[in-house]
Amino acid sequence: MHTIRFDGKTPGAADCEQEISLLAASSKAGVPLNHRCGGHARCGTCLVTVAEGAEHLSDMGIAESRVLKALRAQPDQRLACQAWARGEVLCRY
Ligand code: FES
Repeated sequence: MHTIRFDGKTPGAADCEQEISLLAASSKAGVPLNHRCGGHARCGTCLVTVAEGAEHLSDMGIAESRVLKALRAQPDQRLACQAWARGEVLCRY
């Protein structure tokens, strides 16, 4: 089991048995992350900063890279709908 923690306006945490997207974990944790495009790597509204546990996240795909580049995101930022966690992660949003 691993825990995905969210630090922001509404902090929360989700204990997860399996690999899970950060967006799904936020929903499970009751954290209201925006996700205007429904998780299709189009809107960028689910942008989070990964404070800890980046090594436990899935690799970045082409669609996510494209959106992050358009947003001029920092290297520690990911799209919650595209980043899947296999271990402990702390996100700020
Ligand atoms: S929900 Fe739109 S990019 Fe993640």
